Amino acid sequence: MPKPHLFQPMPLRGVVLPNRVVLAPMCQYSAQDGYANDWHLVHLGRYAMGGFGCVMAEATAVEPEGRITHGDLGLWDDTHIAPLQKVTNFIRGLGSVPAIQIAHAGRKASMQRPWNGNGPLNETDFSKGDKPWSIKAPSAIAVDEGYIKPTELSQTDIKDLVNKFSEATSRADAAGFDAVEIHGAHGYLIASFLSPITNKRNDIYGGDRKGRMRFALEIARSMRERLPSHKPLFFRVSSVDGAENGWDMSDTVVLAAELKAVGVDVIDCSSGGLTGSSTTQNTKRGPGYQAPFAKETREATCIPTMAVGLILDGIQAENLLADGYADLIAIGREALKNPHWAHDAADALRQDPDFELWPKQSGWWLDKRSKAMARQ
Ligand SMILES: Cc1cc2nc3c(=O)[nH]c(=O)nc-3n(C[C@H](O)[C@H](O)[C@H](O)COP(=O)(O)O)c2cc1C
Repeated sequence: MPKPHLFQPMPLRGVVLPNRVVLAPMCQYSAQDGYANDWHLVHLGRYAMGGFGCVMAEATAVEPEGRITHGDLGLWDDTHIAPLQKVTNFIRGLGSVPAIQIAHAGRKASMQRPWNGNGPLNETDFSKGDKPWSIKAPSAIAVDEGYIKPTELSQTDIKDLVNKFSEATSRADAAGFDAVEIHGAHGYLIASFLSPITNKRNDIYGGDRKGRMRFALEIARSMRERLPSHKPLFFRVSSVDGAENGWDMSDTVVLAAELKAVGVDVIDCSSGGLTGSSTTQNTKRGPGYQAPFAKETREATCIPTMAVGLILDGIQAENLLADGYADLIAIGREALKNPHWAHDAADALRQDPDFELWPKQSGWWLDKRSKAMARQ
C-alpha cells in the first residue's frame, strides 16, 4: 500500500521534512527580554517528541520595538542565539526539522499578553513593569480607538528594518534552525505594508500593489541571501484581509509568484488579522476554512503551500493533501490540546503499528503492550 500523503517526506532544497505535519508558529508570550527559556524548550520539544515533521517556533522579533508583547521571543542580538540552540538541538535530535518565524509587529506592537486583556497596555500593566513603547507602521493609522498611534516609517527606517530582518536570519541560522518563515500575515508590519487599508503611503513603498509589495519582497530577497542555500524559506501571508477594499486572493497569487521568483519555497496561507482579531470577519470558520486559499495559490503559481486553520485530525489532513489543497499541513490549537497529534494521525492512517515513529523511551513499551494485548 502506498504511504499516505501525510507521511511522505517533503524535500525542500537540501532539507527533508520526514512527514508533512508542521507545528504552526504560536506565540507563548513567555520570554524575558526576547530570550528563550525552559518553557520554549519543553513547549517546542514536546512536538518533536510527538512526531511532527517540522516544529516552527513562534513569531520572533527583529528588534525590541517589533514585539507584540513584552513576552515575545527576539533575535535582535547575538546573545539570543545560545538559548535557542538548546531548542534546535533537541528537536533535531528527535528527527524533526527546527524552524522559526521571523517577525515585526508594526502597529500591533506594545500590547498586553492575551491573558491580560489582549488590548493596548494599560495602567495595571504599567504597574507590573510592562511599559508601552512607541510603535511604527507604513502609515500613522492606529489599530483602533484607544490604541497607540504609530509613527510613519521613513525610507531610511525601512532600509534599516530590511537589514534587521536579514541579521535576524543569520542568527536563526546560527541557532540551528533549518527553515525560516517570514511573518507576512495577520496585520503585523509586513502585512500592513501589503494592505491598502493600512498602507496609505505615496512613495515607492505604497500606492499600487507593486509599491505595497516592495517591502515584503525586499525582505524576502535579503533573507534569502543570508540563509544558506540548502535551507528553505517560507512566507506566511494573510491570503485575504476579509475587509472591504482590502488585500484579496488575486493579490496573494501575484505576491506568491513574485516571492517564488526571489527564492521563497513555501507559502503558508493564513488570513485576516488586520484590525485586531486573527481571522477575518467574512470567512466562516469551519474545519479547514483557510485551505481553499492554499489550493488557489498552489494551483495558480505551482509553489508548494501550507494549509492551516482548524485542521483537526489525520484523516482530514490526509484528504486535504490528497485533494491537492496543499503540500504541508500546519497544526496550531489542536496541537496545544494534543502534542502527540502526529502520532495519533499515524494511528488513524495505519502507519505505525509497531510504534516505531515514537521516541524509543515510549515506543518500545507501547509496542510491547500492544503485542501483549493482542496475544490475550
Ligand atoms: C497561542 C497562539 C499563538 C499564535 N501565534 C502565532 C504566531 O506567532 N505567528 C503566526 O503567524 N500565527 C500565530 N498564531 C496562529 C496559528 O499559527 C494558526 O495559524 C491559527 O491558530 C489557526 O490554526 P489552528 O486552527 O490549527 O489553531 C497563533 C495562534 C495561537 C492559538
